[in-house]
Amino acid sequence: MLKISNLTVKANNKEILKDLNLTINDGEIHVLMGPNGIGKSTICKTIFHHPDYEITKGQIIYNETDITNYDTPSIADLGFYLLNQSPIEIEGVSTAELLRSVLSKKTNTKVDIFEFNKKLTNLCTKLNIPKEFVHRDINFNMSGGEKKKMELLHLLILEPKFIILDEIDSGLDVDSIKLVGRTLKEYYDTHKPSILIITHHQDILKYFNDYRVSILQDGKIIQSGDKSLGAQIDMHGFKANIIDRDQENE
Ligand SMILES: Nc1ncnc2c1ncn2[C@@H]1O[C@H](COP(=O)(O)OP(=O)(O)OP(=O)(O)O)[C@@H](O)[C@H]1O
Ligand SMILES: [Mg+2]
Repeated sequence: MLKISNLTVKANNKEILKDLNLTINDGEIHVLMGPNGIGKSTICKTIFHHPDYEITKGQIIYNETDITNYDTPSIADLGFYLLNQSPIEIEGVSTAELLRSVLSKKTNTKVDIFEFNKKLTNLCTKLNIPKEFVHRDINFNMSGGEKKKMELLHLLILEPKFIILDEIDSGLDVDSIKLVGRTLKEYYDTHKPSILIITHHQDILKYFNDYRVSILQDGKIIQSGDKSLGAQIDMHGFKANIIDRDQENE
């Protein structure tokens, strides 16, 4: 279980998160929504200890271990995987080289290159990615949608236990959304990870039967509910929903 308590975060002297509380249980799918620029990606980067984000208060606990001050490799070693909103390009290392070396470290064995390449080829077919992409520099000169699918391929190879998807759906065409949605659902059904999905749209959520939805505003979670909350936001927008909530509280 991941438990974030009273998390307050600054970047460049600007306070972005303030007393944020968020709990995600084992095997839970949790959807985080909120207007642009409100701090959703900041939560992801803070969990992974990105150096731009300073935690001034609060704690991040994972399975009873305080990981607030863990560095990025240690967070990854725990089985966390972040699919970034804007995946970066890395020149000089191919996707296949990176994944094979990470997998060797993770399993403490020498990964058989023949078997590994066969697995990558199968995943390329499954995700409709050109096979040669895995031997190119990481994400280099790839389109927005191609990068998202490549990062999903990383995920399928590394088999994480806690997955954070920061707008995996942005940049994907309609067919790719279906492919990605079905692939994620299949991964969820077979591995039962916890998943934090950040999205502005409902399309990718159609593939999951059950999930919780939280809304981020003013640096904290202001409302949580079941999947009907996401549908409500989709129909009426954040403003209408927040006004309704305020009236309910009066
Ligand atoms: N390293 C940084 N330095 C200064 N300001 C930052 C930094 N990172 C984020 N911000 C600011 O913090 C706010 C939250 O940014 P963040 O990227 O977390 O928003 P978001 O909710 O993910 O938005 P979107 O839906 O557009 O992706 C924004 O106003 C952004 O400009
Ligand atoms: Mg973002």
